Amino acid sequence: MKAKVREKSYHDCVIPISGSKNSALPMICASILCDEEVVLNNIPEIEDTKVLLEIMNSIGYHVKIINHTLTIQPIKKIKWKIKNEKVKNLRGSYYFMGALLGKIGKLKIPHPGGCSLGERPINYHLDAFRNMNATVKETKKYLKIEGNLFATTHELDFPSVGATINILLASVRLNGTTIISNAATEPEVTDVCHFLTSMGAKISGIGTKCLHIEGVKKLKKTEYTIIPDRIEAGTFLILGALHEGITLTNVDANHLKSILDVLRQCGCEITCMNRMISLKKTKPLSPFQIRIGTYPDFPTDLGPQISVLGTQIKGTSYIEETIYTKRFSHISSLKAMGGDLYLNQNMLHIHGSTTLHASELYSYDLRCSAALVLAATCCHDFSTIHHIEMLFRGYENIQKKLSDLGIDFELIR
Ligand code: EPU
Repeated sequence: MKAKVREKSYHDCVIPISGSKNSALPMICASILCDEEVVLNNIPEIEDTKVLLEIMNSIGYHVKIINHTLTIQPIKKIKWKIKNEKVKNLRGSYYFMGALLGKIGKLKIPHPGGCSLGERPINYHLDAFRNMNATVKETKKYLKIEGNLFATTHELDFPSVGATINILLASVRLNGTTIISNAATEPEVTDVCHFLTSMGAKISGIGTKCLHIEGVKKLKKTEYTIIPDRIEAGTFLILGALHEGITLTNVDANHLKSILDVLRQCGCEITCMNRMISLKKTKPLSPFQIRIGTYPDFPTDLGPQISVLGTQIKGTSYIEETIYTKRFSHISSLKAMGGDLYLNQNMLHIHGSTTLHASELYSYDLRCSAALVLAATCCHDFSTIHHIEMLFRGYENIQKKLSDLGIDFELIR
């Protein structure tokens, strides 16, 4: 699938931000741990959630979404073998591992996939399951994990978002105390902790690097509202900084501190009020230096998008990436448009400002897609973005949101 994108008549307008993808995915799987109905408000209606819900349906759940409210209800005995090959398309499917282990102590699943951002092993997850007494069998196609799990202490080598959440899921119903040290502190991890506690899980140290979980026998039904997507919000703020400004609603500025700091340092005027952020650009921006890292550092999922802003700022901007080895797959497309940037090991140098020309662009992953859309909005002629379907994995209703801002986005199937 491709899309033709160009700037037509950009104007500041109010864009509502959707619920967080990376909270919704683990929460959908975590609802397996509850024996009753789970209601999730502010669910993002994006491709990745659709795929997870399809899998939930195939293993014994009734799922229904009305107006961004998802209801998940167990209807039959849960199947522990997941056969749906779509597991390979998204990283978030690995949360079925922790959830099924936590509920029935066994599972079989195709190897979870996800965006190609360099090596993305799941050794921390599997080591943690082994540490809990599980046996992990790997064949070329499948992973089979089972065991009589016990609560224990986990010391993560790296504060992995996915491993932290998977340990939480596998341990909330275990008898005894589980400790996760060097846990991830991303807002999505905190959100999952709050969701689990709303079902009766006992977790302390939420939001810190050390989580204590006291196992409970059962989790009860809940209704929970997912936090706004900070990466979608950050992407739109960068779009506003590329043009004259933007106003976002349904956002939580507390989760956006690193990106707001960078945009303010560049010279954007930003006002945060209640659940609204308004960004105005009234003067030429100054270059930036960013170090991408774990929360609260600048998020890796906004690295490609902010690099587009660097091409429009006079001077040299720098982005140091410390999470992934292949984060910047959009560079060749930006260069084809006339961008002047190069990667030296994990340090991206961007020389600006350059005029970007409409071109044929190729997206290789979700955030690469988002960066290319931003770049295409810097041109009055149409750019064609190939494999645009990647964008729909994580950005809800993007065509309408861009069109409200005066950007042409025409889908070609
Ligand atoms: N890592 C390992 N072994 C593991 C797990 C991770 O070596 O067992 C390494 C990874 O290869 C990577 C680093 O640790 O270099 C970070 O991985 P982490 O586990 O923290 O990330 P993740 O859980 O795989 C989630 C998001 C990503 C986001 C990262 C970092 C989901 C479904 N994915 O991935 O989101 O980039 O955290 O914040 O929550 C996206 O939304 O576009 C996206 C890629």
